Amino acid sequence: MLEVMNLHTYYGLSHILFDVSLKVDQGHVVCLLGRNGAGKTTTLKSIMGLAPPAKGKIIFKGEDVTGLPPYRLARKGIGYVPDDRRIFADLTVRENLEIAMKSTEGKRIWDFEKVYELFPSLKKFDKRKGGLLSGGEQKMLAIGRALMGNPDFLLLDEPTEGLAPLLVMEFRDRINTLKGTGLTVLLAEQNVKFTLSLSDYGYIIENGVICYKGSVDELKENDEVRKKCGI
Ligand SMILES: Nc1ncnc2c1ncn2[C@@H]1O[C@H](COP(=O)(O)OP(=O)(O)O)[C@@H](O)[C@H]1O
Ligand SMILES: [Mg+2]
Repeated sequence: MLEVMNLHTYYGLSHILFDVSLKVDQGHVVCLLGRNGAGKTTTLKSIMGLAPPAKGKIIFKGEDVTGLPPYRLARKGIGYVPDDRRIFADLTVRENLEIAMKSTEGKRIWDFEKVYELFPSLKKFDKRKGGLLSGGEQKMLAIGRALMGNPDFLLLDEPTEGLAPLLVMEFRDRINTLKGTGLTVLLAEQNVKFTLSLSDYGYIIENGVICYKGSVDELKENDEVRKKCGI
């Protein structure tokens, strides 16, 4: 569904990503593991057109989408959940979801009810301002907001960052539910245990370089590689 080939991305003069290539097959959850500063967020931003790569190619659903702006990628079916959530603090939960709703072209899969079914805590806080939610609830809202755009591919940036262990388990179940609906996910994470428990395939990134790739079983067995890559 997504193929990223030989990406090089810069912030100004700083060369951040070096020859990053990865593939995500339809219906899979693929993870990008790496410690802080490894280049996970930059990889997702490069794919989403928020940090356009200087070199390389991005193919989505068989089409070259390199260099397209984020709104065009969103229309093609890519949803993006940023690590900093970026929800509107002064809008209610419902309003945050409402503004993310695209005009219905074809069938609408996600609506308020579906999002509230996935995250019952959000339903409870339907009228609460986004800024008053806890960190975990804001993360749920950020995912809900991306779903309102009816994506078939989701870029998910560190959903478990800062969450209590119990909530981490809840997110694992929710992401599995999403996978069950046929959604394809590229998941950037530092939490190895959480991530490997729900992924099909994984990449490890360090210093802007993919240093290992393999099936989840290979990754689980390969402690040495993980240590070498710093996670
Ligand atoms: N806006 C920016 N300008 C300059 N450097 C940045 C910017 N954002 C991130 N970086 C640098 O790029 C590298 C990769 O960062 P990032 O992709 O955020 O890593 P991760 O998401 O894996 O923690 C880090 O060295 C970070 O300091
Ligand atoms: Mg990051």
